[in-house]
Amino acid sequence: MSGVPYRPWSFETKVHEGAEATVSRGEWLGKPAMLKLRKPKGYRNPDLDNRLTKSRMAVEARALSRLQKRNFPSPSLFYVDHQDSLIIISEIEGLPLFEVMANGNLGEDALSRVGGIIRRLHENGVSHGDLTTHNIMIDPSGEIFLIDFGLAKISPELENLGQDLQVLNECLTASHSEYPGAIEKVVSGYISFSTSVPDVPDSGDVTLRFDEIRNRVRYLG
Ligand SMILES: Nc1ncnc2c1ncn2[C@@H]1O[C@H](COP(=O)(O)OP(=O)(O)O)[C@@H](O)[C@H]1O
Ligand SMILES: [Mg+2]
Repeated sequence: MSGVPYRPWSFETKVHEGAEATVSRGEWLGKPAMLKLRKPKGYRNPDLDNRLTKSRMAVEARALSRLQKRNFPSPSLFYVDHQDSLIIISEIEGLPLFEVMANGNLGEDALSRVGGIIRRLHENGVSHGDLTTHNIMIDPSGEIFLIDFGLAKISPELENLGQDLQVLNECLTASHSEYPGAIEKVVSGYISFSTSVPDVPDSGDVTLRFDEIRNRVRYLG
């Protein structure tokens, strides 16, 4: 080896500065990658704040590594730094579903395939926890990926699975009202792509729970 410093990460641009995380694009060992740095939220108790930040990052790393082993369409985990609350993950070369829908470029069967991917996530023993149209990506060939697993649960309860559909339902209603019937397409994909997996609630039980949650919210709201 020459005396060249070893720098596996090379930074290109910052792509997202959110309340919770900063995301940059670059390369990890020459591969297109994203560096996600979780930020403390500035709560009054800095110790608690730090613990929450670290736990979300650890949860995301754990969920991604589990999903990667099962060939699930989510980013690959390249590197984790628990001390600095950062992860480096593969770049998904696509657009958030939010933009695809806003631009009117949604393919005919895309929402049903989104439902299929959500079911596949659940059959792998993971709930997402924040399934908005910003956390679902579509690549140029139409393939669907899920990102942002900081609120995921491994071995979730039926309620967590129903909540995934409800979060997406609320997002579709609030931000994509120009697509009436969108959640019904997602739900029909969720059911039609489902198989029976030991220890995972059947798709019928999940959609029933989703209907219950939806009605609960309607009556309260
Ligand atoms: N692996 C990835 N490939 C491509 N873009 C990504 C990737 N991860 C994050 N992004 C982009 O950065 C944004 C924020 O990342 P996300 O993981 O959702 O963080 P936050 O917790 O702040 O929502 C995403 O909405 C997406 O546009
Ligand atoms: Mg996000």
